[in-house]
Amino acid sequence: MIIGCKLHYLDEVDSTNEYARTLIDKEPEGTVVFAHEQTAGKGRVERRWYSPPGGIWMSVILKPEKLYPISLMAGVSVCETFHTYNILLGLKWPNDVMLNKKKVAGVLTEVVDDRVILGIGINLNIHKFPDELSNIASSILLETKKSLDKMMVFQLLCRELDDHYLMMKNGKTQQILTKWRHYTIMLGKQVRVEFPDKAVTGRVIDIGGDGSLVIMMPDGKIERVVAGDCRIVSSM
Ligand code: BTN
Repeated sequence: MIIGCKLHYLDEVDSTNEYARTLIDKEPEGTVVFAHEQTAGKGRVERRWYSPPGGIWMSVILKPEKLYPISLMAGVSVCETFHTYNILLGLKWPNDVMLNKKKVAGVLTEVVDDRVILGIGINLNIHKFPDELSNIASSILLETKKSLDKMMVFQLLCRELDDHYLMMKNGKTQQILTKWRHYTIMLGKQVRVEFPDKAVTGRVIDIGGDGSLVIMMPDGKIERVVAGDCRIVSSM
C-alpha cells in the first residue's frame, strides 16, 4: 500500500494542499493529509473552495515518474468509491465530478519539484451552499438524501486511489482512460472551451490517449484541447 501509508489527521487547516507542501521533504510518498474543515481551501485557477465540516478535504503526496494521468485517475477513483454505494457520478473534463449537473467534487494537482500534491475535495454531507455557489455546486447529501459515513468513504477512496495509482505506476494508462471514458458525461456533448485569448465551440468526440479533449468543430475540423475551462452548452 502506498496511498495512506501515513496519515495526518486535522480538525481544521487553511488548505490540506498547503499543509502537505510543508511536509513534502520529510514524509514518504503516499502520505495523506485529511482535514474536517479548511479555512482557505483552494480550487483550480486560483478560485476559493468552499470547505465546511461535512466534506472530505484531503491531499496526497506522490512521487510519480510522470504527471499524466494523475488527475484523471483521481476522478475515476472518486467515481468508483461512490459506485460502491450505487451513487453514479459523472466526470466532466478535465476533472470535475458531477451529479445531476452540479459539481460535487474536484481535484487540484500541484507540482513541487519532483513531487506532486494531489488534492481532492468531496462535498459529502453538506446541507447548504452560499447563494453564489448553489446553482453550480451541490453535495452527495443534497442530491441523494443519503448521509454516508465520512470516514468510511475516506477509507474506500484511499483504497481506490491506491489501486489506480499502482495501475498508473505499472504503465496501465489506457485502462485508466477506459474507466474515465466510462464515467464521463462529455462524449457527444456540445461544449465551449475558454482560453485566455480565445474560445472554441464544438462537439466532444473522444478523450485522446494523452487525456486531451477531442472536439469536432462546426466545419468538421478536429481540435485537441489539453487545458482550458470547459462548459457544456447542450447535449445534442
Ligand atoms: C477544483 O477547483 O475543482 C479543485 C478543488 C480541489 C479542492 C481540494 S479540497 C482538498 C485540497 N486542498 C485544497 O486547498 N484544495 C484541494
